[in-house]
Amino acid sequence: MVKFLDENTELEDLKLVKIKEGFTDIFVPDPHYYKQKDTEYLPTSLPVFYNPVMEINRDLTIALTKMYMDQTIDDKIYFVEAMAGTGIRGFRLLNEIRDDRLYIIMNDASPTAFKLMKYNAEVFGYDSERLLLFNMDANYLFRKLHSDLHIKPSIIDIDPYGTPAPFVFNALSCLKKKMSMLLVTATDTAPLVGKFPNAALRKYGSRVVKNPFSKEIAVRVLTYMIGREGTILSIKTIPILGLFLHHFIRLVLITERGRRKADEFWQSVGWISFCPVCNSYDVTRGITSFPSSQCFIKGHGNTEIIGPIWVDPIFDPDYIGSLINVIERQNSINKKNREKMLEILHNEREVSDLIFYYDIQDIARRLRVSTPQINVVVEFLKKKGFRASRTHFNPTAIKTDASIHFLIEAVKEIAP
Ligand SMILES: C[S@@+](CC[C@H](N)C(=O)[O-])C[C@H]1O[C@@H](n2cnc3c(N)ncnc32)[C@H](O)[C@@H]1O
Ligand SMILES: [Zn+2]
Repeated sequence: MVKFLDENTELEDLKLVKIKEGFTDIFVPDPHYYKQKDTEYLPTSLPVFYNPVMEINRDLTIALTKMYMDQTIDDKIYFVEAMAGTGIRGFRLLNEIRDDRLYIIMNDASPTAFKLMKYNAEVFGYDSERLLLFNMDANYLFRKLHSDLHIKPSIIDIDPYGTPAPFVFNALSCLKKKMSMLLVTATDTAPLVGKFPNAALRKYGSRVVKNPFSKEIAVRVLTYMIGREGTILSIKTIPILGLFLHHFIRLVLITERGRRKADEFWQSVGWISFCPVCNSYDVTRGITSFPSSQCFIKGHGNTEIIGPIWVDPIFDPDYIGSLINVIERQNSINKKNREKMLEILHNEREVSDLIFYYDIQDIARRLRVSTPQINVVVEFLKKKGFRASRTHFNPTAIKTDASIHFLIEAVKEIAP
């Protein structure tokens, strides 16, 4: 059990301010009052965590939950927010989805967060028989739901400080048997992008070093770790959406049960090797098939190896299509966030089967020419009959089925 030092903090001790996110009113700790230094990362120094930047993450959660509910005929759908902070996410779900089948379980290990959640529920009338509040360690909650309360959640959201790794196993073990959804946020992106190889190995069980596809690698490493935990429980986890936005990763997985299903997971796992000199790369599927250790260009020497990682799509075109429809209709979603999400989802859906990307800026630099406009390169490739799209993982890169050699010639031709 995590020990929080705020047990004696009473609500009257907090300086609160009313805000509105989506269509939902809520009290949060007043950021102006608690701000001590300009450089301070405020959300974690508040007595109860609230980060306005994460609105897009919550908007997405609302859309994903709505999408899930549209696809199920269950008469009770439990959504568990295991680390709820002020409760903003759960209150928004209750308030903005408005479906009597939806039950929200919110929990936070911090006693102050729990008090604030209760207060918000009472003040704004979100309190209903469809809302359950807890104040305990998230892993303890998952075990309790499973063993004592016999509640089988359809959706679990893990939104911790830093790594979600310690919570994945217990969350998966208490999810509903058939088609459930796991939503995971990770903010410890430094090990996942390869800045701290030892921490990546310790937390995620993968070798990750600095690499040219760092954000996509990060999502694929996290997908691998969650899938591996799943197979222990004979659960197959299938990613349907893997985003790297601002400073965080948001990964969404659907689960399927059964030993045979779980065994299939390992067919989607593999290794990547890349050449640190020219950035060419090679993906090898299978846990025991090791990638080449030399670049194919003579003189470039040894490649770097990363893995195991998930090597199959991290965007499922069917689910993404449904999600796009929901986002277009859900009017409580902030307009700016809606436009951003739709652009990302349309782009990623088009090339969801392609792993990694080519950085046009990098190619132009090597050719000693100016970088052409990325959209112009995309259109050029499409006209030549290739599939091509921008990717949110890197604003100067393109996912395409054209070869690197073709792309180099294209950049030479288009470069201003
Ligand atoms: C990133 S914040 C959650 C923010 C919230 N989901 C939102 O959308 O605003 C992480 C929360 O996890 C809580 N927490 C940290 N460790 C925990 C644990 N082991 N079990 C449950 N809650 C925990 C913290 O008190 C904090 O409120
Ligand atoms: Zn090379």
